[in-house]
Amino acid sequence: MPRKILVTSALPYANGSIHLGHLVEYIQTDIWVRFQKMLGNTCYYVCADDTHGTPVMLRAEKEGITPEQLIDRVWHEHKSDFEGFHVEFDHYGSTNSAETKEFSQAIYRKLKAAGLIEVRSVEQFYDPVKNMFLPDRFIKGECPKCHAKDQYGDNCEACGTTYSPTELINPYSAVSGAQPERRNSDHYFFKLSDPRCQEFLREWTRSGTLQPEAANKMQEWLGAEGENKLTDWDISRDAPYFGFEIPDALGKYFYVWLDAPVGYMGSFKKLCDANGIAFDDYWKPGSDTELYHFIGKDILYFHALFWPAMLQHSGFRTPTKLFAHGFLTVNGEKMSKSRGTFITADSYLKQGLNPEYLRYYYAAKLNGTMEDLDLNLEDFVAKVNSDLIGKYINIASRTAGFITKHFGGELMEMPESAHPIYDQSLIALSNEETDRADTNPQSVNKFDASNEDHLINNPQKLLHEFQSASTVLADFYENRDFAKASRHIMRLADIANKYVNEEKPWELSKLGIQPEKLHFACSLSINLVRILTIYLKPVLPKLAVQVESFLNVTPLQWSDALQALPSGHTINPYQHLMTRVDQKQVDAMIEANKQTLEPATGTHSPARHAEAQQRAIAPIAETISIDEFSKVDLRVARIVNAEHVEGAEKLLKLTLDIGEEKTRTVFAGIKSAYDPEKLKGRMTVMVANLAPRKMKFGLSEGMVLAASGDAPGLFILSPDDGAQPGMRIK
Ligand code: MSP
Ligand code: ZN
Repeated sequence: MPRKILVTSALPYANGSIHLGHLVEYIQTDIWVRFQKMLGNTCYYVCADDTHGTPVMLRAEKEGITPEQLIDRVWHEHKSDFEGFHVEFDHYGSTNSAETKEFSQAIYRKLKAAGLIEVRSVEQFYDPVKNMFLPDRFIKGECPKCHAKDQYGDNCEACGTTYSPTELINPYSAVSGAQPERRNSDHYFFKLSDPRCQEFLREWTRSGTLQPEAANKMQEWLGAEGENKLTDWDISRDAPYFGFEIPDALGKYFYVWLDAPVGYMGSFKKLCDANGIAFDDYWKPGSDTELYHFIGKDILYFHALFWPAMLQHSGFRTPTKLFAHGFLTVNGEKMSKSRGTFITADSYLKQGLNPEYLRYYYAAKLNGTMEDLDLNLEDFVAKVNSDLIGKYINIASRTAGFITKHFGGELMEMPESAHPIYDQSLIALSNEETDRADTNPQSVNKFDASNEDHLINNPQKLLHEFQSASTVLADFYENRDFAKASRHIMRLADIANKYVNEEKPWELSKLGIQPEKLHFACSLSINLVRILTIYLKPVLPKLAVQVESFLNVTPLQWSDALQALPSGHTINPYQHLMTRVDQKQVDAMIEANKQTLEPATGTHSPARHAEAQQRAIAPIAETISIDEFSKVDLRVARIVNAEHVEGAEKLLKLTLDIGEEKTRTVFAGIKSAYDPEKLKGRMTVMVANLAPRKMKFGLSEGMVLAASGDAPGLFILSPDDGAQPGMRIK
């Protein structure tokens, strides 16, 4: 009986680009799903953009567009990045959907009815300029421990201390620069401290749903029996917030992490509606279908505690298992924008690098645990070239030509396999013992040297060895130990190459003797290539399609490994399958990531950059020397006050603090573009040594800078977060 499986990857945030770190997860999941599909199981893979929250709201505002416009643009970017890496979702949705909204509200109502929701007043920092409560990440100030300036509200990057935002010295809003106030507001809590939740989670996290490392972490978080360490979870945020409103709670929105995992359901619902799949089969309690979430270790807490508790107490099934993975490092270090190792998916593809190189490299490193994995760029080049080109492709490129040239593309009959070798029930059985692949030494070192020689001299055994590998490889794939799978496959490829070396078809062909021997050796080699292609197909789906067309076969399924191609089957002429990776391309990619990210505070996407270049701009002025430039004294200024000026059509009167004893008054021609109320508390830039100018309305003691072009619009400048009044700009 085929299994019925629903698989998800974590929903990427809609406020950033997909990078190679993300791809660890999406490629891992995609390989697993493709494997399940090749086995003939019913397996659906859904995902979506995670669209809600303060960062998306503020970023849209900064770009002058609506959050809906922002998430729509990012959705298309994400979709094309995933397609570029052959990550094939059955549905890719958005959490900002009617389905996700409905499920979120329904779940909330159920939790409320179960007595698991409580309202409590909470004191939090409030930005009086932006009129909003500030998430921890948007409050900055001096570290209470080491006194480093401009640290985030939750932890200090200088000394590593964690604290609450209220402990910061001289806190300020990273949004407006204003000094935040403390205000109270009602918040809605999901009562995880309730004994029903604690008991359920203690049981659930121990029942084989988690990897051993993850289960241990959970016991730590849950505390010992009766200790009840879990605290209630704040699931509401105050307006303004980009998200779903909480039913019957005016001005309150679900915190983004409440509706994010519900997005798994919402996205799947869309797939069901379009294809007549029964949604309830996959989500009702006691269902015989399987549900797996692939996630990074950083979001385990949400998936192993909050999410199952939400589901359990709102009448849905809980996940069968969570598959958490580690984090990507590049050349042994955290990805870094300045080193150019914060590599976007898009920049990799733009360099013309084949996405299957990366899929293979990740597969070779992924072992189903939560360990971090390293993308060593030198090793990447070496491994791809040696394994894919030097081993796998090489077998076909050295033998296929002879079949075409001497035998009209026809293959010879292969020896019958001696044993029946493939049994799905074996695989299903081995699944039940969690992550068992690690501890099976027999399957790891199947080939010792003597064994190989013996295979090479016995075609029947050789073919059998390749075919019977399908069971152990299925086991590795099932347990997400792709590293072991790829090692095993490469050992097989080594053996096939040894066989070709031994038979030397090029010599047989040159001498023109023993055509039978040549025909057989090349036919067997092609059959071995076909089997290797089946085993690599979850990792290299695109290459597999090319090989299928060269072999002239229908799409290969897992069980096809058991049958050799029939005698007389005609293959097509061999065509170049894959090019070597060039270190130069990799170097260029690193350079490109350095360049595009240098000026960035993250908001200048390459697309926007190109757009700006196409627009006509005013001609650049005459060249000046640095001395001439430094005559202009530019300072960071805080707009203390802004008001309309009676009788003035264009002017606003600004009171500016640049750290001097007295504030300055500046009349600025920005009335058409700014509401004075919105300017109060903002930081900007002024020319501080401009000769004062007597105007009809009073003395103007400087000038604020603003950008304008041919198109309407006027834009005053803002320094980056952290700049203080009076700082010189040079
Ligand atoms: N939006 C949340 C997930 C909500 S799921 C209901 C989120 N988004 S994310 O964009 O930050 O990350 C998406 C996934 O990519 C997460 O599982 C995360 O762990 C993974 N990765 C992000 N950076 C990563 C690395 N550098 N390395 C490996 N995986 C990483 O979290
Ligand atoms: Zn510190």
